[in-house]
Amino acid sequence: MPEVKLTNVAKTFDKGRIIAVDHIDLSIRDREYLTLLGPSGCGKTTTLRMIAGLELPDEGEVYIDEKRVSGLPPEERDVGYVFQEYALFPHMDVWDNVTYGPRVKGWEEEKSERIGREMLELVRLFERTDAFPSELSGGMRQRVALARALSSGSKLLLLDEPLGALDAKIRTELRYEIRRLVKDLQLTAIHVTHDQAEAMAISDRIAVMRKGKILQVGTPQELYLNPQHIFVANFVGESNFLEGYITERTNHKITVELRRGINVQSMNQDHKKGEKVVVAIRPEVLSITQGEKSGLNSIFGNIEGFRFEGTNIRYEIRLENDDLVVVVRPALMAEWLSVGEKVTVAFPVEKSFVFSYPELGLRTELALE
Ligand SMILES: Nc1ncnc2c1ncn2[C@@H]1O[C@H](COP(=O)(O)OP(=O)(O)O)[C@@H](O)[C@H]1O
Ligand SMILES: [Mg+2]
Repeated sequence: MPEVKLTNVAKTFDKGRIIAVDHIDLSIRDREYLTLLGPSGCGKTTTLRMIAGLELPDEGEVYIDEKRVSGLPPEERDVGYVFQEYALFPHMDVWDNVTYGPRVKGWEEEKSERIGREMLELVRLFERTDAFPSELSGGMRQRVALARALSSGSKLLLLDEPLGALDAKIRTELRYEIRRLVKDLQLTAIHVTHDQAEAMAISDRIAVMRKGKILQVGTPQELYLNPQHIFVANFVGESNFLEGYITERTNHKITVELRRGINVQSMNQDHKKGEKVVVAIRPEVLSITQGEKSGLNSIFGNIEGFRFEGTNIRYEIRLENDDLVVVVRPALMAEWLSVGEKVTVAFPVEKSFVFSYPELGLRTELALE
């Protein structure tokens, strides 16, 4: 029943010059599939390595099943670890790779073999037991790595960008296979990725990391529907950001004056009159109509960019106040408008998020590193 808990965990490198993990708290529940999501360099791998015991924290504690493991070496933590690059033994065939753990642990021959068979059946590679890693595709090698990580019987599985080196199609397939495996075997999994689509598809909960800190933890839906941080609104899904000031507020609504006196209304989210704010709105909730039609929360603009993305059309629209917004419409539902056309963009009041203007500026807050 592996529950994992990190309290105030911090790690620096290079004599404190590089802050890799900056005092994080995180609890992973038994049998939960949790993903650490964040841009490259934000501290995901370091966090995972501290859970595995491959790295020791400078500060804070790591608990597995309420037992403090912060000082314990990896072999005493009983975790399975899958790396981005298939860390298989190249000179061993699939069978020897998968049964390596049990044999090193000195398990009986019979038990090792049973586990080996079970794991290879689970990852659907039983018929390739004699193959060497070099004879397998990337997807197959990662499935072997998974089987090997699980063959020691560990109930805690750590996966560091396990799909990162694979082709797009296989990556999506294997995602669901890993999740199924974790759920069938009732494991606890901590998965590291910078790919938000992967995180959304695979996780029970996601912890969004940036610059060594955890910004928000929640289910994929929670993060998408209720981002608590500007960075999250942009990194999980996508958002347009418009700067403005609150000019009016009632119990339910606020009026935000955007650049050049354009007003939009939004839900009241406890901001003060006069406060500088950022209105975040997702490209897929904006709608556009041809021509200029005035109305509440309607802003005129010009189509400046158009891209047919296969399923969606992506418009870039220069609003009349010079702000640029992206509007994404399902291709089959949309009018196909061309660059240069005058349009009206409608902002649904209830679907925008309002954030206080960040101290360090919007650009810094959205930056990946
Ligand atoms: N062994 C190390 N020595 C020096 N710096 C490191 C070491 N490991 C990681 N870092 C640095 O710590 C930061 C976080 O790295 P990492 O945890 O690998 O990020 P992520 O996995 O999110 O890409 C980065 O700036 C990285 O360069
Ligand atoms: Mg990494």
